[in-house]
Amino acid sequence: MTKTLIRGRLLSFRRAPQHMADRDSYLYETDGALLVENGLILAVGSYASVKPGNEEVVEIDHRPHLILPGFIDCHVHFPQMQVIGSYAANLLEWLNTYTFPEECRFVETAHAERIATHFFDEFLRHGTTTAVAYCSVHKTSADAFFAESARRGTRMIAGKVMMDRNAPQGLLDTPQSGYDETREIIESWHGRARNLVAITPRFAITSTPEQMEMVQALAREFPDLHIQTHLSENREEIDFTCSLYPQAEDYTDIYARYGLLGERTLFGHAIHLSEREADVLSQTGSVAVHCPTSNLFLGSGLFPLKAIQRREKPVRVALATDIGGGTSYSMLRTLDEAYKIQQLLGERLNPLDSYWHMTRGNAEALSLADRIGTLEPGTEADFVVLNSSATPAMALKMQAVKELHEELFLMQTIGDDRTVVETYVAGVASKPR
Ligand code: GUN
Ligand code: ZN
Repeated sequence: MTKTLIRGRLLSFRRAPQHMADRDSYLYETDGALLVENGLILAVGSYASVKPGNEEVVEIDHRPHLILPGFIDCHVHFPQMQVIGSYAANLLEWLNTYTFPEECRFVETAHAERIATHFFDEFLRHGTTTAVAYCSVHKTSADAFFAESARRGTRMIAGKVMMDRNAPQGLLDTPQSGYDETREIIESWHGRARNLVAITPRFAITSTPEQMEMVQALAREFPDLHIQTHLSENREEIDFTCSLYPQAEDYTDIYARYGLLGERTLFGHAIHLSEREADVLSQTGSVAVHCPTSNLFLGSGLFPLKAIQRREKPVRVALATDIGGGTSYSMLRTLDEAYKIQQLLGERLNPLDSYWHMTRGNAEALSLADRIGTLEPGTEADFVVLNSSATPAMALKMQAVKELHEELFLMQTIGDDRTVVETYVAGVASKPR
């Protein structure tokens, strides 16, 4: 297969930047190139050093644009594309009034397949090449999602939601069927194309203790799989949850009692944690997934991102849109809202830190940094091309920009899908037109 040489300005993080002047934390090549073959990055560096001497290559010139690793979104709901922007007072009203009825529609395979097409179009249009997704309770919704992902060649992590109470009849499985169908989905899809399956109990409110035992059984049988669920998003939710599991010390302890904490566990939101809960997440290496646009939209609270990372026992953090509680598919818009939440908490979230989060940081949170989230040789060739002058307003501001960090900050502050010139999936240009 012919190799492809992709030229542009390259930015890729080596580790989390400690401060804005932490130049060693990232690779930045002003005239850089990526050599790509068979979906992998073969070489990265200056154009002059990477361009093969006497070999035929297809060359694509993206100068003066920036090339970054594809964005990673660590928490989204595939069946909620038509829930975005639903008017509700809080999480539980939003779930009961709009979200659960909408998810019932995914019992229809044709509907799930149609929305799956839109899902991949929208994520790739916004530069996101990996998402960690909740499907609906229906096995066929996961089949539709993974089949579309296989067609697109994307690295996706997803699972059929397990939920057996406190929701409409059309959205309930049983402890046994949730277990059986999750196993079937693992057999069909885990490791097929670039798909990975996550064990996905929705949250403790919608799972009986019997179902949680089945989740625990799955987690024991498949220790390499990710587990995703929700934790401490909203005060009413926390009170209701704890009333359902009176033996547990707190919300986190419910999941702990079923052996669900660990380095592959992703807890959506985790806003209102006690010190004890944060300690337990830290000790187990569990990940708190910050969903800023959703937390603001649903009025859930201000996630203490910087404070939780600064603790003596820091908690691992990932970043996500939480579509459809979230209000934008764009990880750039998500960074903007994350920044504003830290502002309200009197904290600084610098742009290098932010861009690390949505690329390598999220890959590390998923324990996948050896495959995605950087431009390092040997990793998968998922990357985005960004134009910091994509709109007249951006072009005007760019006239005043001198430093890389200012350019990054501009794109996260007023950029969106228009900023994304191209999205490469496994080395193939894949932004829908
Ligand atoms: N908690 C349980 N289910 C959901 C969901 O679909 N969205 C959000 N934001 N929180 C949840
Ligand atoms: Zn969620």
